[in-house]
Amino acid sequence: MNSRAMAEKSEASGRDAGVKRVHIETYGCQMNVYDSERMRDVLAPLGYAPAASAQEADLVILNTCHIREKATEKVYSEIGRLRVLKEERRRRGDDLTIAVAGCVAQAEGEEIARRAPSVDLVVGPQSYHKLPELIARAARARGAALETNFTPEEKFDSLPARAPHGVSAFVSVQEGCDKFCTFCVVPYTRGAEYSRPCAEVLAEVRALASQGVREIVFIGQNVNAYHGAASLAELIARAADIDGVKRIRYTTSHPLEMDDALIELHGREPKLMPFLHLPVQSGSSRILKAMNRRHTAEDYLRIVARLRAARPDLALSSDFIVGFPGERESDFEETLALAREVTFASAYSFKFSRRPGTPAGAMQGQVAEDVKAERLARLQALLNVQQAAFNAAQVNETLEILVAQPGRKPGQVQGRSPYLQAVHFAGDRALIGECVRVRIERASQNSLSGVLADSMAPA
Ligand code: SAH
Ligand code: SF4
Ligand code: F3S
Repeated sequence: MNSRAMAEKSEASGRDAGVKRVHIETYGCQMNVYDSERMRDVLAPLGYAPAASAQEADLVILNTCHIREKATEKVYSEIGRLRVLKEERRRRGDDLTIAVAGCVAQAEGEEIARRAPSVDLVVGPQSYHKLPELIARAARARGAALETNFTPEEKFDSLPARAPHGVSAFVSVQEGCDKFCTFCVVPYTRGAEYSRPCAEVLAEVRALASQGVREIVFIGQNVNAYHGAASLAELIARAADIDGVKRIRYTTSHPLEMDDALIELHGREPKLMPFLHLPVQSGSSRILKAMNRRHTAEDYLRIVARLRAARPDLALSSDFIVGFPGERESDFEETLALAREVTFASAYSFKFSRRPGTPAGAMQGQVAEDVKAERLARLQALLNVQQAAFNAAQVNETLEILVAQPGRKPGQVQGRSPYLQAVHFAGDRALIGECVRVRIERASQNSLSGVLADSMAPA
């Protein structure tokens, strides 16, 4: 059988008559990962089962990201690929529904509807509860059904109860951003800051814990700006009292919002894990000012010092942007110096990307592409060394691992260390959901492996 015939056979067998299947491709940040899960929850009552690929799906949703130019370009090339699949289906008297969701849908929805006739529906991040209606509208009418007008409050009020999850679950507590960093599209794609009421969030945590979830990750574009009748520190403290919750994390935080109570909680609440993603973007106070980050490099170092005073083993990660307009070699060297001083356990770093409608996109002093590439390579070399060293330092240590899933090799399971490192070891699947002590034997750039320290007594 040639590959084409094989593909057609698997396609036919994967798409049984009567069973509808949805495939969601997720790009971008934790907010999109969460939203994709919620879209599955919305679609399940309509009879949509998950499909492993677009080939096996009746509905494909691209959950898109607008943060950098490359991310946005990917959407249009992906639509092009799906259009070919849709045309093949149509020749066989069948169809494929193509939906564009996420931040590109919010920012460029009307343009997508105009430019890409193969797209059947466009839905913004606050309008996912309207998916069933939009799918019905798309089936009835020509042209894309478009919905980008709802608020986070309307979305959270209308979404169905959550389906059972794995061991760890994202819980969105805050959406949107009022910070307006000059490089960033998020305030435009996700709108103004909104916090979900504390009681509603805690009810969701209780329901998840009763379904076997052991780790709660509170998420938001600015999660530590949370103010849902309680602060984030209060919310975490109350979630830690819920039976079954073993670990709590939160992401992503803004340095300006690291208040005393939250810093202090890191030293006091054992369920709050000693890992914090705290983006700094640059080590140059001059560039931070132009970015409208509203803190200096020294402020950031002071916050880190206070966090480490509260929790000495706290591991930190960050986001960096190199080549922001006006960034000189000396500014970039300040970024390297800050990274050397803090020492990050992991980090993401990006070349500045000019985004339409943002102040920085129109600034004087844009940095040449080759200079950005060269600075990024130097920064990443340093951050990679720091990450490898952080992992290597765990060898011969015994860490408590929350076992999350089967490992890649038979007889193995894998989980996460308190510092969010992936850890593999030989163990029974019955351990999934347990915290066990593992002695670390080997470290690589991205993961650790070891042996169960005491297979008889889960910690
Ligand atoms: N506070 C947010 C940040 C979202 S964007 C959160 O919840 O994660 C994630 C990262 O993308 C930012 O921290 C920044 O480092 C990077 N980023 C944002 N806009 C960018 C741009 N125009 N060019 C390059 N990187 C950018
Ligand atoms: Fe973007 Fe800044 Fe808001 Fe983060 S804090 S989402 S980088 S505007
Ligand atoms: Fe991207 Fe939107 Fe997240 S632009 S980074 S998916 S909030």
